[in-house]
Amino acid sequence: MSKSVTVIESVKLDDTNSALILLDQTALPNYKNFLHLTTVEEVWDAIYELKVRGAPAIGIAAAYGLYLGVKKIQTENMEEFKQAFIQTKEKLASSRPTAVNLFWALDRMHARFDKSKGETVEKVKELLREEADLIKKEDQEVCEAIGKHALSVLEPGWGLLTHCNAGTIATAKYGTALAPIYLGQEQDYNFKVFADETRPLLQGARLTAWELNEAGVDVTLICDNMASIVMKQEKIQAVLVGCDRVAKNGDAANKIGTSGVAILAKHYGIPFYVCAPMSTIDMNSETGDDIEIELRSQEEIKEKWYAEPMAPKEVKAYNPAFDVTDHSLITGIVTEKGIIYPSYEENLEKLFKD
Ligand code: MRU
Repeated sequence: MSKSVTVIESVKLDDTNSALILLDQTALPNYKNFLHLTTVEEVWDAIYELKVRGAPAIGIAAAYGLYLGVKKIQTENMEEFKQAFIQTKEKLASSRPTAVNLFWALDRMHARFDKSKGETVEKVKELLREEADLIKKEDQEVCEAIGKHALSVLEPGWGLLTHCNAGTIATAKYGTALAPIYLGQEQDYNFKVFADETRPLLQGARLTAWELNEAGVDVTLICDNMASIVMKQEKIQAVLVGCDRVAKNGDAANKIGTSGVAILAKHYGIPFYVCAPMSTIDMNSETGDDIEIELRSQEEIKEKWYAEPMAPKEVKAYNPAFDVTDHSLITGIVTEKGIIYPSYEENLEKLFKD
């Protein structure tokens, strides 16, 4: 990707390898605050509180958090060090349950540890930092590849609908569902992007609309319940969404509301693409039923956005953060290796074998 579209880098290690620098996504679009995190607790909190969010970005942050956590351990004893490593890994793994990238990145760090047999504690610390750097670097390359593959099925001038934020700030760079939009922007595709606001935490309004606008993309914000009318009015030629976990049969968990958009797209005959790096595909989940759906607090629905409560205090609220889109509603799953079409069970297996 050439550099004519500037995208922000939201997750990185500082120059002295002693702090994780994160763009605080809860402060956007009003404030561009960068946090300097040095402890595992701070990184855990940043993931839980959605200061860093989006499946690949969570994985990268956790990998750096694990490195920062074990870097501080003062011992020459490898057994002791390994035990502390595992405890730190388990702590970070408990921050959010749905995005498989979190567990994938932590497992990669673990595998690197296991491969470093015979090295000193100091050397293992260095290897862990290298692995976290590699996870980040590879994610950037993966996102660029996803962008190219997705762009190949889009046409200039199309209206595109997206849900939540699968953009540059949700990844190392460029995003997954937004990568083809950035690429198209560089090639004068003149896409007209519609961003669902994405209740309750407004990732579409606060993040997607913000980052696309910053990049000069034509973006229009709609409320979630407006997706049907813009489709009926033929303003949308394709839907592109990101993903937190794809099961072996192609069922895909993404931000709450995604499956409703997919049902609408099917009704109106609009192609619906899920953009998912291979790190988001979980061949250990047979179907979407095996994916744990994060439940978040009622306050996010009832009290979060106004000074005054938005609903009667005594009323119950139900706040699942994700839903699963049935594989039958998905036109294609765009990975870094190309677009996977049905039958997903067969073709995802082939993808991993190859
Ligand atoms: O709760 P969030 O904001 O972390 O949810 C994020 C999403 O649903 C994204 O679409 C997904 O993680 C893909 S990010 C490339």
